[in-house]
Amino acid sequence: MLVPHPRNSRVFIAPLFFCIFHTLFTGSVLCAEVSLSSIEIFKTHEWLKVTPTVYFLCKGENKTVFPDVKKSHAFYDFNGQESWQPLTNFSSKKCKRCGFYEEDSIKSDDVFDEWEFCPSDFTISNGEYIRFRENEFNATFLCPECLSICGVANLSGEHGKKAMHVAVVVLLSGLVLAILAVGVIVANKFWQKKRREQDQVRFLKLFEDGDDVEDELGLGTVI
Ligand SMILES: *[C@@H]1O[C@H](CO)[C@@H](O)[C@H](O)[C@H]1NC(C)=O
Ligand SMILES: *[C@@H]1O[C@H](CO)[C@@H](O)[C@H](O)[C@H]1NC(C)=O
Ligand SMILES: *[C@@H]1O[C@H](CO)[C@@H](O)[C@H](O)[C@H]1NC(C)=O
Repeated sequence: MLVPHPRNSRVFIAPLFFCIFHTLFTGSVLCAEVSLSSIEIFKTHEWLKVTPTVYFLCKGENKTVFPDVKKSHAFYDFNGQESWQPLTNFSSKKCKRCGFYEEDSIKSDDVFDEWEFCPSDFTISNGEYIRFRENEFNATFLCPECLSICGVANLSGEHGKKAMHVAVVVLLSGLVLAILAVGVIVANKFWQKKRREQDQVRFLKLFEDGDDVEDELGLGTVI
């Protein structure tokens, strides 16, 4: 049967709604991955070695060495699927202390920049964050999931409006789905009732041998 049983439909819809509301209003994403979309370094700090070893590090995590970043004033573009991606993860709104560094063979590693890296930095619509430091580097990070960590909590400003917009679209889609589901259930009930009536009529027809069939069907009054 193509039409789902009413009881099954209800069981299916309830968790769907729970999921939508949960995602919308708690705004909690367990794991938002941050990847490096592009980087350009404007200088190297090490003058003994020809090629620098540049890496990204968040406090308490492991180094991510960029094997390709070897020249200054060269633009490196990444698709996010490189073996060393993602750079890090955000599991809450909490910031991390992260930075770009260059390995140094003699003294401690050189610092391009070190800063408080926060999920709320990713404010551009597609979850982008550009960090630029003059004469040091220009890097673009991507974290689309970071928008859902921070977006719903802050419903003011342009970013908030966007989050609101998404919420409205999701809610409306949910409503349309619900109406469709109710429609299917009602149609199914109606169809079952109609079928039962037809069965009854057919049943009666078997016994009343043609005599009063027209009366039973109510056709007599029409003709
Ligand atoms: C860091 O690297 C070590 C050794 O490669 C590994 O055992 C550990 O799980 C890594 N830690 C994280 C947070 O990835
Ligand atoms: C980020 O989370 C993913 C999935 O849980 C995991 O595979 C990856 O190693 C994590 N990366 C870092 C840098 O912690
Ligand atoms: C940094 O890189 C981004 C992405 O390529 C670019 O849009 C932006 O203009 C750059 N900024 C500077 C100051 O070079």
